[in-house]
Amino acid sequence: MELSRRDYLGLLGAGASAAMTAAGAAGAAEGDADRERRMRWWHEARFGMFVHWGLYSVRGRHEWAMENEAVPVDEYAQLARRFTPKPNAARAWAKLAKQAGQKYMVMTTKHHEGFCLFNSKYTSYCAPKQACGRDLVREYVDAARAEGLRVGFYYSLMDWHHPDGARCAQDEAARRRFVDYIHGQIRELLTNYGKIDILWYDVAWPLDPAGWESEKMNRMVFQLQPDIIVNNRNKLPGDFSTPEQHITAEKGGRAWETCMTMNDSWGYQRADDDWKSPKTVVRNLITCSRDGGNFLFNIGPRGDGSIPEESVRILTAVGQWMDRNSSTIYGSDPCRVRTSVYSNFTRKGNTLYQHVHFWPGSPVIVAGLQTRVKSARLLASGQPVKFQQDHLRVQFLNLPEKAPDEPVTTLAIECEGEPVQDMNMVRTQRKRERA
Ligand code: GLC
Repeated sequence: MELSRRDYLGLLGAGASAAMTAAGAAGAAEGDADRERRMRWWHEARFGMFVHWGLYSVRGRHEWAMENEAVPVDEYAQLARRFTPKPNAARAWAKLAKQAGQKYMVMTTKHHEGFCLFNSKYTSYCAPKQACGRDLVREYVDAARAEGLRVGFYYSLMDWHHPDGARCAQDEAARRRFVDYIHGQIRELLTNYGKIDILWYDVAWPLDPAGWESEKMNRMVFQLQPDIIVNNRNKLPGDFSTPEQHITAEKGGRAWETCMTMNDSWGYQRADDDWKSPKTVVRNLITCSRDGGNFLFNIGPRGDGSIPEESVRILTAVGQWMDRNSSTIYGSDPCRVRTSVYSNFTRKGNTLYQHVHFWPGSPVIVAGLQTRVKSARLLASGQPVKFQQDHLRVQFLNLPEKAPDEPVTTLAIECEGEPVQDMNMVRTQRKRERA
């Protein structure tokens, strides 16, 4: 059995190891190589902007409000009359993303509410055919491209509006119609907007992968966009995992991306004031980079397209830090040094970056470092840092009392080999008091 390259990409997307015949296995190496090729930019990028925008942004009570407040579908649909954002609102988002050091964007083209921001021949419940009168996905794609950012589409499989969105689980005719609708819309999205870099499926309720025809779905996606990457939320493994609101690395080198809100809501929620500090955001980005993952960080613009001021303030501060420190994030390698009560670490080759978030004054210390340090400097100023190293620890000396950089100060520590830390050695071999 010869697998064509196409079948094979389909398998890849499906991650269908069960279907791996001998011929398939021979192709697996090619598949891995292709995935590596498609994902290279994404691994280097590390940091993206998630955008949740839809009718829920007009309502301002969170993107789940339609279900959570049990709003009748006709009442909810009235929001489409008020969703008339200013033209090209996405330009300001893309500019902010760029300034923040984010390399790609992922926008909700259709969330669970079922309202499409793109022009679809399958429904009139879409921005161009409602009060808005414009294709908001088009505006978004143009805005992201204008800033040199990669473009991702979020698309919710679950649909609270479509007549077959729930009964498809019980009724085969409904399932057929609904799956044709979903596949048809994905085809539209990946046909009408040029090159798309990421397809970000979400919530596959109420069907299983067979019901969604997820393998066929991925096959179509790769046929239309041979360079694209897809996530795992159509219930197939896809190219990367999507830990949500927590940072947990995948095992076995599988790619992963943590997605996270800036407050507690993805879609605009007027009263949600639980904002993360710029320091927390920078620390999260560092943790993702340390463990070889990406960080997709959300904004929820208002119905008019404007970005909440707090979000602008936070991302601007993150961007200022990135101006001085992004070299420690982009294209970083997984880092095995991780223990410190006031700092965290990233790595590039033999250079260890110590990111100090609670500046202790002098000295700054790394315990249990197994590699000899050759030189050290403060990254932002380039100023060399004196140090002393023995088998237990390395101490960085003569440092200022006040943190030299905010919200996190980075020391660039050049080592003789890959920096590795052994805390067990510290616990067992640090001399005890003499008996
Ligand atoms: C969840 C939520 C959704 C949000 C998404 C982002 O699945 O249902 O509102 O869009 O996660 O990861």
